Amino acid sequence: MTVALEAKGLARSFGGIRAVRGVDLRVPEGSITAIIGPNGAGKTTLFNLLTALVPPDSGTAELFGEPIVGLDAAAIARRGLVRTFQTARVLPGLTTLENALVGAHRRVRSSLAAQAVRLGRASGEERALAREARTLLETVGLASRADDAATDLPAGSQKLLELVRALMAAPRVLLLDEPAAGSNDAEVRELAAVLRATRDAGITLVVVEHNMSLVMDLADQVVCLDLGAVICAGPPAAVQADRRVIDAYLGQAT
Ligand SMILES: Nc1ncnc2c1ncn2[C@@H]1O[C@H](COP(=O)(O)OP(=O)(O)O)[C@@H](O)[C@H]1O
Ligand SMILES: [Mg+2]
Repeated sequence: MTVALEAKGLARSFGGIRAVRGVDLRVPEGSITAIIGPNGAGKTTLFNLLTALVPPDSGTAELFGEPIVGLDAAAIARRGLVRTFQTARVLPGLTTLENALVGAHRRVRSSLAAQAVRLGRASGEERALAREARTLLETVGLASRADDAATDLPAGSQKLLELVRALMAAPRVLLLDEPAAGSNDAEVRELAAVLRATRDAGITLVVVEHNMSLVMDLADQVVCLDLGAVICAGPPAAVQADRRVIDAYLGQAT
């Protein structure tokens, strides 16, 4: 088994709040790991530590065996670790398709693929990316909205678009922060299908998510955080049945 992402003893405090306190994480390549836990447990901070949005106080992280702590966010993304945000960040003034293409900016020589496509001046490489983006938009049910302003999309669709934008970066490991937040049932079904297809394409996924049926359906392993620490990790059914997880999280969520 190849370990795609590994954290050891990651910790970070904000003032007196120990947001993440010594988290170990081991993510096998080609798997889906779900991270669950109550609000404030440190899930987003863990992603922020792994992607250099916030430096850790201590601990290490490796991507395919290479240390990533100390690299900047762009360097980490170039190495294949890409993330989405809890609140979708679509770029205003751009269409859905153009937003998707922005994700590919590290893959093209000219950094303005979206603009080139808009102006009808796209190179062959850029046209190929636009085709790839349209295919992904189709997969998440957004093909008919490709030329609409991205900010006009409903919240769940904006989350799906953010996922498409992240996939356009050709990640090796993708961190998704609450991808189903604000989504309706149809969007959650699209999301589940895309995540499964993404894993089947060999991309490793780490998903922070509160939708437990989605978690149980998709995850190969589940990690539960509470008060900044891992309180339980293992196969989905075992974690769901764990007394500590029920007391800290599921008892109130279900
Ligand atoms: N940049 C920050 N500054 C101060 N406190 C923060 C910051 N980021 C997170 N926190 C605090 O760290 C704790 C964990 O937050 P977070 O990682 O967002 O939790 P989760 O994503 O599990 O809901 C919370 O108490 C939160 O208020
Ligand atoms: Mg969060």
